[in-house]
Amino acid sequence: MLGAAGLTASGCGVQSGVAGSGQADLANGKKLFITTCGGCHTLADAGTKGTIGPNLDEAYMEPRAEGFEDSSFEALVREQIMLGFPYAHPTPMPPNLLKGQDAQDVAAYVASVAAVPLPPGASTQ
Ligand code: HEC
Repeated sequence: MLGAAGLTASGCGVQSGVAGSGQADLANGKKLFITTCGGCHTLADAGTKGTIGPNLDEAYMEPRAEGFEDSSFEALVREQIMLGFPYAHPTPMPPNLLKGQDAQDVAAYVASVAAVPLPPGASTQ
């Protein structure tokens, strides 16, 4: 279930506009994540529940715990979007789902929220 409010509201921890080093628009990244990636991936901040691909909070739990910087995550996700997982079975992740600035925005958004603990009491539903 995707809450319509999530499409426009900049949720907790997500700033719109320029973020970090680059020009990433995290609000745009979140919106695109929900529409383009959420059908296959669970990500708590985006409120998506896809189960075809890995839960991205879980996938990044370990590197986060090891102290990876957001910029490293961003590079990883950016590469993942470009390459996809064309051989994943039974449902592959197509390469180049997003390109250019849109891919950058989604990568920055995922890097900023994946495996970041929600505030106590926040619902993950
Ligand atoms: C059609 C379903 C589908 C869509 C849409 C999709 N993915 Fe995936 N994704 C997968 C699958 C399946 C895998 C796992 C492949 C494997 O590990 O065998 C995956 C893996 C990943 C991984 C690697 C996770 C890890 O464990 O390291 C990342 C990051 C990722 N996807 C991000 C995205 C982003 C960002 C989008 C939107 C631009 C997206 N995915 C759209 C199916 C999808």
